[in-house]
Amino acid sequence: MRRGSIASLLGLGIVAGGITAAVALALPWLPKPASNEADRIDFLFWFVIVICIVIFALVASVLAYSILRFRAAPDDESDGPSIHGHTGLEIWWTLIPTILVTAIGIVSAIVLARDDNLGKHYFRVNVTAQQFAWSFTYPDSHNLTSGTLRLPRGRSVELVFTSKDVIHSFWVSHITPKRLGKFDVICTELCGLGHAVMRTEAIVMTPAAFDKWANAQAQAVTSPNTTVAGGAVFKNNGCGACHTLTAAGSSATVGPNLDKLPTYAQTAGKALPGFVRQSIVDPNAYIAPGYPKNVMPQTFGQSLSKQQLDALVQYLISSSKKG
Ligand code: CUA
Repeated sequence: MRRGSIASLLGLGIVAGGITAAVALALPWLPKPASNEADRIDFLFWFVIVICIVIFALVASVLAYSILRFRAAPDDESDGPSIHGHTGLEIWWTLIPTILVTAIGIVSAIVLARDDNLGKHYFRVNVTAQQFAWSFTYPDSHNLTSGTLRLPRGRSVELVFTSKDVIHSFWVSHITPKRLGKFDVICTELCGLGHAVMRTEAIVMTPAAFDKWANAQAQAVTSPNTTVAGGAVFKNNGCGACHTLTAAGSSATVGPNLDKLPTYAQTAGKALPGFVRQSIVDPNAYIAPGYPKNVMPQTFGQSLSKQQLDALVQYLISSSKKG
């Protein structure tokens, strides 16, 4: 090959690689990592992308060079030269991809093994999925239940899943959060009518703030004051994700407005306490006009203790009368 040809091949390769690298780097393809595991996944992603950019530049430059350099003249009707095999090239184009694919395989295996490693002092959260809500139980923190996933920063967390009904999906099973803030938790498997509303938040807190929250919740749930205890049950079970209740500061409109419970009870022809209890334990017994059936979880009768259920009913009665 002449020196001029090599120079033009190289030039084309640099142009193709430069453009591709600019596209890869200039646009924010990935969200900012918020966990140690995400850092490793991002590293793996960029490791593969860099290899892809180099290969793309190589192929693009050879292709562009061939199109420009070996173009047939308009009046050239002759056949191209017959070429048969090239042992040297064949060895290289087998060897290089083999090395690259093996390297990607090894790096992936290391990243996956490290991302799955819980370490010695991990923190367990039991995740319960049901149509159409998440609840999170903390066996290491007073066996608390919460409708939002609260996590202490810097702790290795194991998430253990159970579904009460159909298949739901969650993205991660082990995570070590490293950034404070709120993150979306969404169901990623089409699981029925309320799939789109099956979402909540993950809140990463400092370990001290997490302990403070856990202790306060544990106290609130067992409080003899039903407003405090019922309010905690309301918050911890994610009721505010779907319902408006002024007293609880929630304004969601997926389900009926709980400020209007007395009106609903009247329409249903029932006394308020019985109506509220039935609506929690057997939500399909009476469906408020304009709302679909089967969206409200039907499992609170089993998941709430009698004490929690009584407190929640009391809390809803007193809050809705105020509202
Ligand atoms: Cu649960 Cu989609």
